Amino acid sequence: MAVPTPSVDPASSSEPTIVVRGGSPLHGEVTVPGAKNSVLKLMAATLLADGTFTFTNVPAIADVAIMSELLAAIGVTTAVGDAGTITLVNDGRLVPVAPYELVEQIRASINVLGPLLGRCGTVRLSLPGGDDFGSRPIDMHLKGLEQMGATFEIRHGYVEAHADRLHGVDITFEFPSVGATENILTAAVYAKGTTVIDNAAREPEISDLCNLLTSMGADIEGIGTSTLVVHGVEVGTLRAADHRTVTDRIQAATYIAAVAVSGGEIVLRGARADHMEVLLRRFRDMGLTIVEQPDGLAVFAERRLHSIDVATLPYPGIATDYKPLIVTMLSVADGVGIVTENLYPGRFRYVEELHRLGADISTDGHHAVVRGRPSLSGARVKAPDIRAGAALVVAGLAADGETTITGVHHIDRGYDDLVGRLVALGAQVARR
Ligand code: EPU
Repeated sequence: MAVPTPSVDPASSSEPTIVVRGGSPLHGEVTVPGAKNSVLKLMAATLLADGTFTFTNVPAIADVAIMSELLAAIGVTTAVGDAGTITLVNDGRLVPVAPYELVEQIRASINVLGPLLGRCGTVRLSLPGGDDFGSRPIDMHLKGLEQMGATFEIRHGYVEAHADRLHGVDITFEFPSVGATENILTAAVYAKGTTVIDNAAREPEISDLCNLLTSMGADIEGIGTSTLVVHGVEVGTLRAADHRTVTDRIQAATYIAAVAVSGGEIVLRGARADHMEVLLRRFRDMGLTIVEQPDGLAVFAERRLHSIDVATLPYPGIATDYKPLIVTMLSVADGVGIVTENLYPGRFRYVEELHRLGADISTDGHHAVVRGRPSLSGARVKAPDIRAGAALVVAGLAADGETTITGVHHIDRGYDDLVGRLVALGAQVARR
């Protein structure tokens, strides 16, 4: 299969790029990897118990390597095995300090707070970083843990937390925060008594974490619902367990978007329709045919997409992480679509990059109005974050000529061989 020969040499800068030439319909089959936003949390949960954990269906992504480094600094070592397997060893000698150099690189580093506080009673954690699409406070994490008896001081950019022993309480979130739900959950497993988390986030990745914790001996009711009830066990009594990471619904959606703008038909092995119900309904409204198979999804893109209006919401609504893909699809759909962002007001920065590809999008606060064009026009663009980066690759598939994407390190944080998988489907895309 042919890969593009760039007419402009992107190697003129030493920065890695992804070069895409649009216009080839996609055909074939790919396996969707495990979810970044699950495996990073599973890894943090290894702080709770001594022993050896083996996780399978682990995506080969940069954030897993960064989380491994962070855990190594605390006292859990990770070894990478074959075919998406990692083994983590916790020998019980933990240093509950998460340093700035590692924490500032990924938001999920905040997930060490709950387990360390529950197990060690003290944590020193640099305030977290992550994607640059707006303010991402952790007030709900801290407030919930405070209700459970923790005290916090923020000094010199670090959160310093203490708790003799956390105790169970009823916590009602104002908003179903993914990270706050996970931190309260992983702290509550060692709290004295019962913790009830109401208005909990119910993303499939949270259920995946609950399932690991249950295999480790935790007592959790209401998994998959918005009320989680955690009956705490004695500190130190959880045990190591093995676990298969849930498939990544965001990576699955990326391949659906790719075939949607390219035409063709593909099969996504491992994709879970039950984790993407609302999204798949809206994709069908746009004109895609999506058929559930025993182990995945078949997607047929036989005609030009229709425009729709979409608003992002917590799960089971349309995830904010899908939005750059949807905006890209609307850029080449028939009609006008309005996209409303309800989670991160600043998460429209990639729109300027889509403008460079000729997309007709205007934004006003939380809203984007996308007027579909027959096609986009290849250009050099920069990935501002993980999901927007992947969407720019998809946009390149919908563009005439060649699109060169820089800022590839963002895409590598969350996508396991995006280029290789697209090439396997017949796309003209290469890494340079
Ligand atoms: N929020 C607060 N206070 C808090 C916590 C959250 O105001 O204490 C706000 C946030 O600022 C944001 C909203 O609540 O406006 C959602 O935050 P949430 O806590 O639900 O998200 P998160 O745990 O920080 C995870 C994913 C994100 C994904 C969001 C929403 C990880 C590592 N990150 O972030 O994924 O966008 O949930 O679904 O799981 C990505 O993978 O590229 C990514 C950004």
